[in-house]
Amino acid sequence: MGRPPPRGAMARSTVDPNGNRFYNEDCVEGARRHLPDGSVDLIATDPPYGIEGDRLHRHYNRKESFVVEGYVEVPLKDYGDFSRRWIAEAARVLRPGGAIYVVSGYTNLPAILGALRGAGLEEINHIVWKYSFGVFTRNKFVSSHYHILYYAKPGGERTFHTESRFGLAEKGSDGGSLNYDDREDVWVIGREYKPGRVKNKNELPTELLVKMIQYSSSEGDLVADLFLGGFSTAKAAIGLNRRFVGFEVSQPIFERKIREMRHLIPGNLLPQLRIPRVEPRARQGERWTAAEAVALLERFRELRETRSKREAIAVLSKELGRGRWALEKRLVALGDSARSPRAPLPRFR
Ligand SMILES: C[S@@+](CC[C@H](N)C(=O)[O-])C[C@H]1O[C@@H](n2cnc3c(N)ncnc32)[C@H](O)[C@@H]1O
Repeated sequence: MGRPPPRGAMARSTVDPNGNRFYNEDCVEGARRHLPDGSVDLIATDPPYGIEGDRLHRHYNRKESFVVEGYVEVPLKDYGDFSRRWIAEAARVLRPGGAIYVVSGYTNLPAILGALRGAGLEEINHIVWKYSFGVFTRNKFVSSHYHILYYAKPGGERTFHTESRFGLAEKGSDGGSLNYDDREDVWVIGREYKPGRVKNKNELPTELLVKMIQYSSSEGDLVADLFLGGFSTAKAAIGLNRRFVGFEVSQPIFERKIREMRHLIPGNLLPQLRIPRVEPRARQGERWTAAEAVALLERFRELRETRSKREAIAVLSKELGRGRWALEKRLVALGDSARSPRAPLPRFR
């Protein structure tokens, strides 16, 4: 089992040429030393689970030579206090409106939930991450999920890019909304298989981290991870052109993994991202005037002479700078006048 350096021991740190910071320190002491109040936009983190995580690779049948040594686990009896201490620091460093995603197994979930609430953070979603490679069991159900607690610090505007991955109007081959599917609170994302590569015992998949970071931060925002492990959050955040700060208490893990950060190019993941088809909605939320409603109706009737309803709405969306849903809602409100070209135009006051 890895041991944290003694309190007060010389801490190592690395600042890369782009200003991203990595500290080989206990995250509570390190955050106090290096992170001012309200300075972080997003925390995505995966604390030790308090379940002898230093032996986790044996359960997962991993070849030990490929698992980086030095994982620092937290004894079960200390887990509640440990969770309260680091989550209080996380709440302090988040800006008002800033968000935190905490990955947790079920064993010590109550400690994490209690600490998040105790720190005054607001629950946004309780996400279930369903992964492959559950631990096989014979006489009970196979456990193949983690919890991801998505909370935010009250008092400011929370970043949530609803259409960062799929436009609201995008449909899959079955006609269902791709945006809805992606924003359901059960995420089915497989673990990464990295044969022959040295990794942390429970490294998170890039896809999972990219999803959190895309929805809950913007390019240039400061993202933090208090438990770096395999530095996977750092790689995803920098790859998406966010600034980054992180802590890892274990010296062997830090020294091994920091090498991988040297050649990382900020924004390297951006070209791989799917480009969502987002409808122009320059005038989203603006009230409709009576004159606009009449103009909408007349143009809609004109377009319907040669086009399907769907095509007509697509044209209107471009012409009027309004979203598809807003147009459909407005046309429904216009009733018969929109449904039949012969119906009289409504009177607007
Ligand atoms: C579950 S792992 C993180 C895995 C990481 N998310 C990844 O994808 O590789 C937790 C990490 O926290 C480290 N750790 C434990 N106690 C810590 C503390 N007080 N401060 C900072 N890091 C700590 C452990 O050594 C371990 O590497």
